Amino acid sequence: MEKKAKSFVIAIDGPAGSGKSTVSKALAKKLGLLYIDTGAMYRALTLKAMRENANMEDEVFLTKLARSTKIDLKEGKKGLIVFLDGEDVTGLIRRPELTNNVKYIARVPGVRREMVKLQRSIGEREGAVLEGRDIGTVVFPDADYKFYLDADAEERANRRHKELAESGEKISLEDIKKGVLIRDKSDMNRSVGALKKAEDAIFINTTKLSIEGVVEKLLSYIKN
Ligand code: DC
Repeated sequence: MEKKAKSFVIAIDGPAGSGKSTVSKALAKKLGLLYIDTGAMYRALTLKAMRENANMEDEVFLTKLARSTKIDLKEGKKGLIVFLDGEDVTGLIRRPELTNNVKYIARVPGVRREMVKLQRSIGEREGAVLEGRDIGTVVFPDADYKFYLDADAEERANRRHKELAESGEKISLEDIKKGVLIRDKSDMNRSVGALKKAEDAIFINTTKLSIEGVVEKLLSYIKN
C-alpha cells in the first residue's frame, strides 16, 4: 500500500499578545494552508464547563466533558468559526471572564490529551499552521517549521487592550496587564503542555515589528 505523504505543518507558539494569532492567520493564507487556533479549542471547552457550572477542580469531570464534547473549527468569510457541539460560539469565547477561567481547563492532563488528539488529526489530514503554547513541543514535535514568538509584557498588554476595545469590551490597560502576567505564569508553570520554546524553534521578538514584518520574517525562513 502506498504511504501517505506527510502533511506540511508549521508550529507557532508564544504567550498571549505575542502576535501569534494575526501572524498565523496571515501566514496560513499566504501559503494556502489551514489555520488552527488551538487556544479557541480550550476556550470553547471552558465555555461548556462554565455553562454546566462545573467544579473547575474536578479533573475527572472535566476530562469526561472533553471526551464527550465536539469542537470544530471552520474557515468563514470573516475568519475562523468555532463550533461547540454544533453551535457557533465564536463571539462568546473571548470575553474576559471566560479568559480568566481557561487556565483551569488547560491544566488538566486528560483535557489536554483530548485536545492534542483533535489537533493532530486535523493537522495531519491536510497540513496546517497551528498556533498555541505546546505545538512545537507536544502536538507536532516533528513540524516542518517551528517558531516561538514573544514581545515585552507592556507591548503585549497594549495589543490586547486595543483588540478588546475594538470588540467593545471596556477594561483598563492596568487590569489587562495584570491578566497577561497571571496568564503567563499559569501557562508556563502547569505540569503538562506548559508554554515553552521548543529547542529547535526559531525565536522571534515581535515587540518592535509590524504584523507584516513578522510574516515576512517567517516566510524568509520557510523559503530558504
Ligand atoms: O491563545 P489564547 O490566548 O486564545 O489561548 C487561551 C488559553 O488557552 C491560554 O491561556 C492557554 C490555553 N492554551 C493552551 O493551554 N494550549 C494551547 N495549545 C493553546 C492555548
